[in-house]
Amino acid sequence: MEWTKESRYRRLEQASKSEMHELTSKVNASQWRQTFHIQPTTGLLNDPNGFSFYHGEYHLFYQWFPLGPVHGLKYWYHTKSKDLVNWENVGIAIEPREYFESHGSYSGSAIEYEGKLHLLYTGNTRDQNWNRKPYQCLAIMDESLKIKKLDDPVISKVPAGYTDHFRDPKVWKEEDNFYMIIGAQRSDETGCVVLYKSDNLTEWEFEGELKTGLEDFGYMWECPDYFELNGLGCLVFSPQGISPQDDFFNNIYQSGYIVGEELNLETKEFEHGEFYELDRGFDFYAPQTMLDGKGRRLLVGWMGLPEIDYPTDSDGWAHCLTLPRELSLKDGKLIQQPVEELQLLRKDELRVNGTIENQVISFDDFSGDSYELICEFYANDAEEFGIEFRASDDEKTVLKYDSLKGKLMLDRSLSGEEVGKEYGAIRQCSMAVDKLKLHLFVDISSVEIFVNDGQEVFTSRIFPKANSRDIRFFSKHGTVKFQATKFDF
Ligand code: FRU
Repeated sequence: MEWTKESRYRRLEQASKSEMHELTSKVNASQWRQTFHIQPTTGLLNDPNGFSFYHGEYHLFYQWFPLGPVHGLKYWYHTKSKDLVNWENVGIAIEPREYFESHGSYSGSAIEYEGKLHLLYTGNTRDQNWNRKPYQCLAIMDESLKIKKLDDPVISKVPAGYTDHFRDPKVWKEEDNFYMIIGAQRSDETGCVVLYKSDNLTEWEFEGELKTGLEDFGYMWECPDYFELNGLGCLVFSPQGISPQDDFFNNIYQSGYIVGEELNLETKEFEHGEFYELDRGFDFYAPQTMLDGKGRRLLVGWMGLPEIDYPTDSDGWAHCLTLPRELSLKDGKLIQQPVEELQLLRKDELRVNGTIENQVISFDDFSGDSYELICEFYANDAEEFGIEFRASDDEKTVLKYDSLKGKLMLDRSLSGEEVGKEYGAIRQCSMAVDKLKLHLFVDISSVEIFVNDGQEVFTSRIFPKANSRDIRFFSKHGTVKFQATKFDF
């Protein structure tokens, strides 16, 4: 099917019952449906939105185009969970129905105020000449999960000096005020973040731009997020237009952060260190964080990227969200760990260990297509060692430590159906290790790898055949010891 402007901007109710039935059957028959990730029932999922904890439950919304695996008219879809593991599909939360969101209810965030969950988001509109005009909008959810929009946007004008790429409000509260940052593009086509202030969430004062040291860093910053952790400020955002540099910035768009002194809300100055990518894998974008009732800063990202075709497209759906991660700070860098609740998924446990000497080894029953694997390598004098997983005679995804280069590499060149080939099939990062700990969450069509307790994370979609289930351990030119535990889900 060819996706025209008309078909991308069709509304859900314009699709007949039989069209939806056919699409749903196609999606359900897809060999790459995930088993423990949030994924759309049909169509395309992108950014996580409105991630929050309200009345004893986590709420997580996402950008959704229901009618096919393309970016079209975006809705907010609502999921909720008591434990961050078992998610319930609630249904559509925000429908792009009003004049201020005629071309999509775009990304935004949530905050509780006066007993209700306030959802601030961008209404995207286009005029007849396809010129964009963004609005910042407010919808309010009550305890019964009913959502009501305000009749008009809370911000209708883009301030002078910025283009219509002005979106993705993230709100937080400090003392008696609410603050909101928005991802923006300056008139000279460089990206930045601007700040607004309010005492009631409906009337907003434009405060100006955050003063970072990244004056000329890409042409647009999407999905900004600001929070404080251990007395330091952390600005997360997704810049577009950054060129690849060695092992960095190799995906079409990036997601990362800068850490520094707490943001000065008066002067808007933010003194910070260098920009780090949040994730070193192939498929990660537009993350959002929240502070939960236990005081944890949690992050969820979109396990996908814009403008890249995925093998699931032909099955009528695209993308999923990452697992929730808990953030902490160490030496000015964000550490990401899978939330401990994920242990609820664990069923059978199998342990293996051994010494590998210039060989590839595997174990009976130590295989699968969806599991958690924790693997530690030590006493290494090998030039290379690592694991192959989702492997068979002709497919494998390889995670390899190269001791000579001091690099950990994820190679998906033989992972099955190809994705984003033009951006390469290897991602790698430098890291000195005595002991390498790899903590993997493997699902039917993805892997999330937490390295050395979250110092680095590699998040990737992979599209192997169903029978590619082997797990192998290998070393080259030397010996390494290992122990591994696999939890089946
Ligand atoms: C990021 C993004 C946001 C926008 C949304 C639209 O992926 O482009 O900037 O609000 O997706 O779906």
